[in-house]
Amino acid sequence: MSTTTARRLDVTGMVRVARERVVARIREAEVVAAALSAGRNVLLEGPPGTGKTTLLRSLADGAGVPLVLVEGNAELTPTRLVGHHDASRVLTEDYRAENFVPGPLTRAMTDGAILYVEEFNRVPEETMNVLLGVLSEREMHVPRFGRVSARPTFRLVAAMNPFDAVGTARVTPALYDRSCRVAMGYQDEEAELSVVATATGGPEALVAQAVRTVRITRDHPELRIGSSVRGAIDTVLIALELATVRGQTATSDDPIDESTGVDAALAALTGKVTLADGTARPVEDVVADIWHRAGEELGKA
Ligand SMILES: Nc1ncnc2c1ncn2[C@@H]1O[C@H](COP(=O)(O)OP(=O)(O)O)[C@@H](O)[C@H]1O
Ligand SMILES: [Mg+2]
Repeated sequence: MSTTTARRLDVTGMVRVARERVVARIREAEVVAAALSAGRNVLLEGPPGTGKTTLLRSLADGAGVPLVLVEGNAELTPTRLVGHHDASRVLTEDYRAENFVPGPLTRAMTDGAILYVEEFNRVPEETMNVLLGVLSEREMHVPRFGRVSARPTFRLVAAMNPFDAVGTARVTPALYDRSCRVAMGYQDEEAELSVVATATGGPEALVAQAVRTVRITRDHPELRIGSSVRGAIDTVLIALELATVRGQTATSDDPIDESTGVDAALAALTGKVTLADGTARPVEDVVADIWHRAGEELGKA
């Protein structure tokens, strides 16, 4: 077997660690683990805050391989991804393998890591083409450095937000053809309650109102983009601190003080949601209304 051939990963270990650390998402964990173990590369498609990074981290730990994380954006040039020669050392020593500073792709290939590129749809086309070549050959040629071969556990996982203004249509069919796609949508209310309770340790009533609030934002006529579960986590954490500073008790399961809850929700959510075209009132009013509505719905339940 050549060194560049993919080898199977510990699929059972991957799923076991994911079950320990990730709330629900068992089907996704199994499918992504199976695809990676089989030597496939994966496109994870889902809005921000749906647990993509959390899942990948636990799968990599379960497989016992490093995770190399790269933020995809317009500045991720092939040089940034692959590496460069140290300019000052090149002046005195000329181009040598020893003064090459490896980028995340080169490190991931030589360490046999999972290379996780977030916001993949934002990566420039030349950079996508470099990755495409690596996916086909599991090796690449770096000018004045030499041949880089992928260790058998190297994989690429690309994450994309389907609602990103920079469209996923930028990703070439050739890349889709060389990857497997797993969609990560928003989780159900029960799973989100569990995520937020675990992340914050907040009282049940506050957690419930924060989760219901972000869920309403995703399907609200005055909003184009709603908030992920991150907004609920932030709301609870801020509300707890605010309650402390205001001398209120926030440990019981009583609803949080009205104005404390609203202040926390405004700080946590107004920057995370986007108004729909034609919404005439300020985002603060929309978020405050949704917070109250969530409280009413839960009070009636
Ligand atoms: N299923 C889940 N299990 C545990 N934590 C989760 C889950 N989904 C989201 N989270 C939490 O929500 C936040 C955002 O998750 P993250 O994995 O960073 O999302 P993404 O990478 O999709 O933007 C983190 O604090 C994470 O711990
Ligand atoms: Mg992420």
